[in-house]
Amino acid sequence: AQYKVGFLVGSLATASINRKLAKALVKLAPPSLALTEIPIRDLPLYSQDYDADFPPVAKTFKAALSACDALLFVTPEYNRSIPGGLKNALDWGTRPYGQNGFTGKPTAVIGTSPGAIGTALSQRDLRAVLTFCAAPMMQQPEAYLQFKEGLINDEGEVSVDGTRQFLATFMRAFEAFIGKTLG
Ligand code: FNR
Repeated sequence: AQYKVGFLVGSLATASINRKLAKALVKLAPPSLALTEIPIRDLPLYSQDYDADFPPVAKTFKAALSACDALLFVTPEYNRSIPGGLKNALDWGTRPYGQNGFTGKPTAVIGTSPGAIGTALSQRDLRAVLTFCAAPMMQQPEAYLQFKEGLINDEGEVSVDGTRQFLATFMRAFEAFIGKTLG
């Protein structure tokens, strides 16, 4: 089957290492996964005041979520948790009440950091939120990637063979998980 996978990058930085990682994952994904980014950058800070009438950027975001079969989160760790911009996007995605765009969507979580634990705590918090949002998550393999200078270039090419193979395995496992979850 062909699956539409939306990916969310938790960093807004121009030189984001997580964006490089996302590019690598797009390159290494099996051909059955069609990956497109779901941008989070222009979403205003969520407030319930918007529930009666979402601004166009939030409507576009919600429509992009529903158009996807599955979602991939590629995120840094900020202060041992999820970056605020990504949490904001998650909050938009669950509202207005009763219109949670994550229910039943197969998801996978990955991230990279120069630090030794490679975003493990950000991913743990993200998983806690996605659990509440009723999104099925791939549990294995986990991917905590320590980013060293030159590991992935701006084009998403991975310089270390073992890492490239692991990332390809991760995407194949995600494909299998999507298939199993959607039946
Ligand atoms: C960080 N960084 C960081 N790294 C980490 O491993 N654990 C952490 O808790 C934090 N906390 C943190 C907070 C804030 C506000 C910033 C700006 C950075 C470092 C972070 O991993 C590094 O800047 C990465 O390059 C961020 O990912 P992107 O934006 O390059 O994808």
